[in-house]
Amino acid sequence: MAPRLMPTLKKIGVLTGGGDAPGLNAVIRAVVKAAHNTGVAVLGLEDSFDGLIYPDKARPLTPRDVTGILRRGGTILGTVNRGNPFAVPITTPEGTFDYAERVVEMFRAHGLDALVCIGGDGTLAISYEFARRGIPLVGVPKTIDNDIVGTTSCFGFDTAVSFATDAIDRLHTTAEAHRRILVVEVMGRYTGWIALHSGVAGGADVILIPEIPYDLDKVSECIAARDQWGARFSIVVIAEGAKPKGGQASLVEGAREGHVERLGGAGMTCSKELEKRTGKETRHVVLGHLQRGGTPTAFDRTLATRFGGKAVELLLQGHFGAMVANHPPDLVAVPLQDVVGKTKLVPLDSDLVRTARALGVSFGD
Ligand code: F6P
Repeated sequence: MAPRLMPTLKKIGVLTGGGDAPGLNAVIRAVVKAAHNTGVAVLGLEDSFDGLIYPDKARPLTPRDVTGILRRGGTILGTVNRGNPFAVPITTPEGTFDYAERVVEMFRAHGLDALVCIGGDGTLAISYEFARRGIPLVGVPKTIDNDIVGTTSCFGFDTAVSFATDAIDRLHTTAEAHRRILVVEVMGRYTGWIALHSGVAGGADVILIPEIPYDLDKVSECIAARDQWGARFSIVVIAEGAKPKGGQASLVEGAREGHVERLGGAGMTCSKELEKRTGKETRHVVLGHLQRGGTPTAFDRTLATRFGGKAVELLLQGHFGAMVANHPPDLVAVPLQDVVGKTKLVPLDSDLVRTARALGVSFGD
């Protein structure tokens, strides 16, 4: 949407939606401080758009409320990860309402001029719907998965990769001591960004990602070759969304109303199969939500702070319906409509994939 003059920005709302990512609090802090310093009040909305629906889930945020949260993981506003909220009507003590109509109505009732919506692909898609329905807003991309198009990076990813790399380092020593195969399952949904980056940083021997369906015979060959030259242990990093050639990603739960499908089990299956094929003792570790917890890295804190400051700048300029994006060395605004419904996959000809292959890393293909 084209910039339009917003001379009377007095009160904005801020919310966090989808799975949490380290750096959410840093964005909230930046939004509150940057807004406050230009005379704009901020309303904190709890549990994503629920904060607009239920009056007791909205509270004013001042610089005092955000002091000390820069380094805290999670989000002081709470979040929900619920799939498509438009599908079902909502019931509050005041009655039952159409979800979208109620959000727009309550946005006005709160006296808000605009929103900052911090979230991943799901929250940005919901935000886009509300932008189309007339709510002036700016999106801030967040995800540990790094799968949002239009931005080179999102805060949360660096923290997740750093944690996974540390885990791989630790697993190296025990794998080597026991001459085992260790399979590490990392998050990332339908993309292999975390697996690729932590795998390369941790010196994994095999990296399995959703973008490259794998063949375990090829993986076994790589492990046998390592044994032959004397390595006798191997580290396999597998993304939760990785799938065998001709097969499907492994699920712990299918999609149901209001809930997206949950991935899981890829590491365990891969581990059992590799043990059978290679005859080597194999163990697996699922890093799971540890990748999302804890304090954000310096990189993520800085990016998140820049995103928050830029979001307020865009609102003050009347630049709505856009997402803040990292286009190094700048932050820019990209239209939400160019972002929603898309997934940023690992490019198979990327430098990192080519370099890993050149070093002998197997992608199982
Ligand atoms: O999108 C972030 C993410 O952590 C994915 O990597 C993972 O598949 C998913 O969220 C897990 O979601 P939940 O915390 O709802 O189980």
